Amino acid sequence: MNIKTSKLIESSGFYAFAAIDKKVQELKATGREVIDFGVGDPKAPTPDFVIDALCTGVRARASYGYPSYVGDISFREVAAKYMQETFGVEVDSETEVTVSIGSKESVFHFPRAFVDSGDIVICPTPGYPPYKKGTEYAGGVPYFVPLTEENDFLMDYESIPEEIAQKAKIIWTCYPNSPTGKLAPREWIEGLVAWAQKYEIIIAADEGCYHEIYFGEKPISILEIAKEGVVVFYSLSKTFNMTGYRVGFLAGDKRIIAAFRKIKTQIDSGCPTFVQDGASAALGNKSFPEKVRKEYKTKREILLSALASVGLPPCQSEGTFYLWQKAPEGFSGKDLAMKLIELGIVVTPGEWISDKAFDGKNPGENFVRFALVATLEEVKAAALKIEAELEF
Ligand SMILES: Cc1ncc(COP(=O)(O)O)c(C=O)c1O
Repeated sequence: MNIKTSKLIESSGFYAFAAIDKKVQELKATGREVIDFGVGDPKAPTPDFVIDALCTGVRARASYGYPSYVGDISFREVAAKYMQETFGVEVDSETEVTVSIGSKESVFHFPRAFVDSGDIVICPTPGYPPYKKGTEYAGGVPYFVPLTEENDFLMDYESIPEEIAQKAKIIWTCYPNSPTGKLAPREWIEGLVAWAQKYEIIIAADEGCYHEIYFGEKPISILEIAKEGVVVFYSLSKTFNMTGYRVGFLAGDKRIIAAFRKIKTQIDSGCPTFVQDGASAALGNKSFPEKVRKEYKTKREILLSALASVGLPPCQSEGTFYLWQKAPEGFSGKDLAMKLIELGIVVTPGEWISDKAFDGKNPGENFVRFALVATLEEVKAAALKIEAELEF
């Protein structure tokens, strides 16, 4: 029998981070020692206080059945309190907060609630791949706005042509930014809000993956500036080493939350309540993020110093656990990634997580992304290898 897959699947290409995982496994299978800065998946363990809360929840909720579609009220209240304590932002746990099965899922499915066939969704490039794929699977058309050194890695929304803005339903933003490490200044966010409100474009701000990881000024939330027409995505994955738990939340304009909740009832049956119990314990803990922040700061400094010592262009990262390293003059990001692989160091070539922007250029072409998720010892070992062996 002939099994014929859909045109959608055939046109889907590869998922960058699955390809990197595969590369790491292939290298390991040859007996090579690999230091993996590829996928942004922390190697450090989930903290005990989260595991304890999850275990307690599993027993306490043994006969609870399916979880709530929108999240247990106890979790939504903790999430609302977290937004209040972290940013001074008030959100109503009943109507303005809803649980997710992690941000990948919610980012991917979000456009389905607002996009009709042919509608435009504005996405940053480089950017998290589900902005694009979620748009396409919903029948929408992504319009890519480049993040470049020239625009200081801030989306130049003013450069978006009038006819595109008129047709756009959603603009995705991601600050603290993956992969560039850029934080968005308050004035930029204020300008974005005014621009998007003028065209009635929903701002989908994927701001809550890396907001606890910063090295200078603390990032702000876009909800400090506006709630109308705005939704934010938060994930427990990175700050609390909980990528395996699959939990996060959305907060913002209650009309957006209501529409998202509606499609979610068709898609899945909610996030396990005991996982939300673990997540509530995490969000209630103020000291763990501080510890995590310090650890990434240390790793960042070690690696930045090694990269600079071999003459690579200076790399700025104000937050997140990524370094967006430019290749030297005359070399592409892929060239740099290949040289690093020869040393057993795996990174993501920038072009794998970038699309051609409206100007026809791929802004990731000359970059690689380091995810600082390897252990401190591995980071030190990588730094030594780079200092001793990376040559151009
Ligand atoms: C920018 C960004 N958004 C969202 C996610 C998804 O995180 P999760 O699905 O683990 O919550 C990631 C993960 O790497 C990310 O880098």
